[in-house]
Amino acid sequence: MAAKNTQVLMKQHPKGGVTEQDFEIVEREIPKPGPDQVLVRNIYLSLDPYMRGRMDPVRSYAAHLHPGDLMIGGTVGEVIESNVPSLPKGTYVNGMLGWQEYGVAKANELRVLDPKVAPISTALGVLGMPGCTAHYGLMEIGQPKPGETVVVSAASGAVGSVVGQIAKIKGCRVVGIAGGKAKCDYVVTELGFDACIDYKAGDMHAAFKAATPERVDVYFENVGGEIMEMVFGRLNSFARVAICGLIAQYNGQPYPFTGMRHVLVNRAKVQGFIISEHMSYWPGAITEMGGWIKEGKLKYREDIADGLRNAPQAFIGLLSGRNFGKQLVRIGPEKL
Ligand SMILES: NC(=O)c1ccc[n+]([C@@H]2O[C@H](COP(=O)([O-])OP(=O)(O)OC[C@H]3O[C@@H](n4cnc5c(N)ncnc54)[C@H](OP(=O)(O)O)[C@@H]3O)[C@@H](O)[C@H]2O)c1
Repeated sequence: MAAKNTQVLMKQHPKGGVTEQDFEIVEREIPKPGPDQVLVRNIYLSLDPYMRGRMDPVRSYAAHLHPGDLMIGGTVGEVIESNVPSLPKGTYVNGMLGWQEYGVAKANELRVLDPKVAPISTALGVLGMPGCTAHYGLMEIGQPKPGETVVVSAASGAVGSVVGQIAKIKGCRVVGIAGGKAKCDYVVTELGFDACIDYKAGDMHAAFKAATPERVDVYFENVGGEIMEMVFGRLNSFARVAICGLIAQYNGQPYPFTGMRHVLVNRAKVQGFIISEHMSYWPGAITEMGGWIKEGKLKYREDIADGLRNAPQAFIGLLSGRNFGKQLVRIGPEKL
């Protein structure tokens, strides 16, 4: 065991775009597990757009970080010391242990993983929070019907890629929106979407109109800004819109949205949601998606940065689209 616990702290609230100066890397003592706790060696850290929101000192659905706080984050790791009989040494677990090499937790704060069922990293992606977000937002809010047109932004990402593939399984026409030719090619060729609009390629409005001849019945929103404005302009009567994320605006960029007229005239339903408020939904969604992975109907892609010290840089990249697939950080080897 290393003598110290490397941690990444939020040093200061970012001013606009996040920079590496907003983080501080420190070495602390490895924590000791209490009587009802285990010590976990973290193997993978999940990097997610919501972390950007936690770095701003504003009112939101969850408490924000203060300077000097450990960066929060989902982790997958191995129990290396245990005071909990149901979690012996060697158990793989998923928890919220943050940007650090080692963490302690109680049994009810951890999900036990079976590496024989799926690679443990998937507990942070397709078989974890992003996958459940996609499943819930599409099925519960979008309520897609066969033959309808479903549109999803950030289509090659952790959430968007799953949204589009589930919509295909449900018999819909699926149009993705993503940044760059490589991501769009992947979404169509590998994931089976019907079309993908490269919003960086030029006239996205004309391309989007051509790709949605029957307009849009379900919109799964991940980015906001000009893309959201464009899609609202093509909503069908009684369209459903799941507001999942607005990543284009997370660094404080304002956008003068004018699309509410389309909600009114199309009698559309628009609903935001936060997946951590729907924990009872997760087990069923994970079981169903695990089955689809085994059947080859649901594919996933991971983008893994090496080393905890590279987490700040990888997080900055995630916020500007440098990631291609679910962004993870490998903190240590799966087996020592
Ligand atoms: N409501 C919830 O409970 C919940 C839960 C999980 C995630 N989310 C939200 O879901 C969205 C996707 O999250 P994810 O984890 O799947 O991330 P992701 O899609 O794997 O990665 C983020 C992607 O966002 C796109 N992006 C970044 N800046 C952009 C900009 N200015 N304009 C357009 N696209 C931009 C980039 O893709 P391109 O290269 O294609 O632009 C980037 O790869 C985020 O908004 C996140 O906050 C919400």
